[in-house]
Amino acid sequence: MRLYLIGYMGCGKSSIARKVARASGLRMVDTDAEVESREGAAVADIIGYMGEEYFRKSEREVLLSTAEMSGVVVSTGGGLPTWGDNMEQMSQMGCTIYLRRSPENILPRLSPYGRAKRPKFRGLNDEQLLAFMHSHLAEREPVYSQAAVTIECDVKSDEMVVQEILTIIENLKTYSYEEV
Ligand code: S3P
Repeated sequence: MRLYLIGYMGCGKSSIARKVARASGLRMVDTDAEVESREGAAVADIIGYMGEEYFRKSEREVLLSTAEMSGVVVSTGGGLPTWGDNMEQMSQMGCTIYLRRSPENILPRLSPYGRAKRPKFRGLNDEQLLAFMHSHLAEREPVYSQAAVTIECDVKSDEMVVQEILTIIENLKTYSYEEV
């Protein structure tokens, strides 16, 4: 079983994947963390020094490497689904879950570190950041919404979102012939 959590920056993919992994026994793979360990540098530095194209290629290699894994919940970088045919790849490799959250809901969840580590958010005040997220998310939404499952996160606590994903895992175990 392979689950891919997708969604906008700051929507909670990594923290929710961590909780799902702990509760389900699936292994968590975080594509940003994997790229960082392969490259030996932080995502912001990889993008800053090597460029976004370089980062996206490394991110895609990490994504493709998950095809050989089973029993994983993969937390993906916010831009990963929008690059090349990554979205199609994920749909073929496993179950894609879109954590849908509005910019208004994301903003208060972002720590100062969470803002600083994301190159696209740097140097923006709250108002500018909200405006940026609205237009950027609108560009990405058509890709994100191709996910097999969409979870509306604004109206749910993180625990409810985790529970919903655990139910999906139980259903996949029941109705799929695939080894978990
Ligand atoms: C990016 C999202 C980041 C990270 C990189 C680019 C994006 O991941 O991969 O900074 O383009 O949306 P998170 O979604 O975990 O912030």
